[in-house]
Amino acid sequence: MIGFDIVSIGFLLSLDWLRGKFFVMLTTELIKAIRREYLLPWRGIHGVVHWARVLENGVRLASVTGTRLDVVTLFAVFHDSRRVNEDNDPEHGQRGADLAAALRGKVFVLADDAFELLRTACIYHTDGRTMADVTVQTCWDADRLELGRVGIKPHPERLCTEAAKDPAVISWAYERSVSGFIPDIVGRDWDSA
Ligand SMILES: [Fe+2]
Repeated sequence: MIGFDIVSIGFLLSLDWLRGKFFVMLTTELIKAIRREYLLPWRGIHGVVHWARVLENGVRLASVTGTRLDVVTLFAVFHDSRRVNEDNDPEHGQRGADLAAALRGKVFVLADDAFELLRTACIYHTDGRTMADVTVQTCWDADRLELGRVGIKPHPERLCTEAAKDPAVISWAYERSVSGFIPDIVGRDWDSA
């Protein structure tokens, strides 16, 4: 119980820290630019509510893995941004990376080394890989912890980081995905973009 409380406090502190340092990256201009290209229902299975939970999953994981939050933050909004259907769309990760490349320097900035991590995370996020830079692994885990919304409980062997394999983290994310939890940022900022 004490360990869970420490994790929760660390997560809440990291959320506050993220809001101060990195949510500023997610400007209205950035979300508007992505929304112009998004072809599926805004609050659909791969839409903005999923992106927001991926973001909060990533923040929670990053509070343990210590990875680059700029990459995790941008991965959340780009990785599924160019899907053309809600089912089998094997090239959508590449298209999401291409959109990030097209918008970089226009509605967000990111250093070259970080952009390469973002690009890798987007392109391969549905390939089932587990070996990569820890920032890329954190992005992939943040997405895979969302499988409850399509009826799948994430299996630890399919996750990359020890942080994500923590049963308390899997249960927390699974319950949020199954129940359709909507993070505040969706209604407050993203729906009106
Ligand atoms: Fe996703």
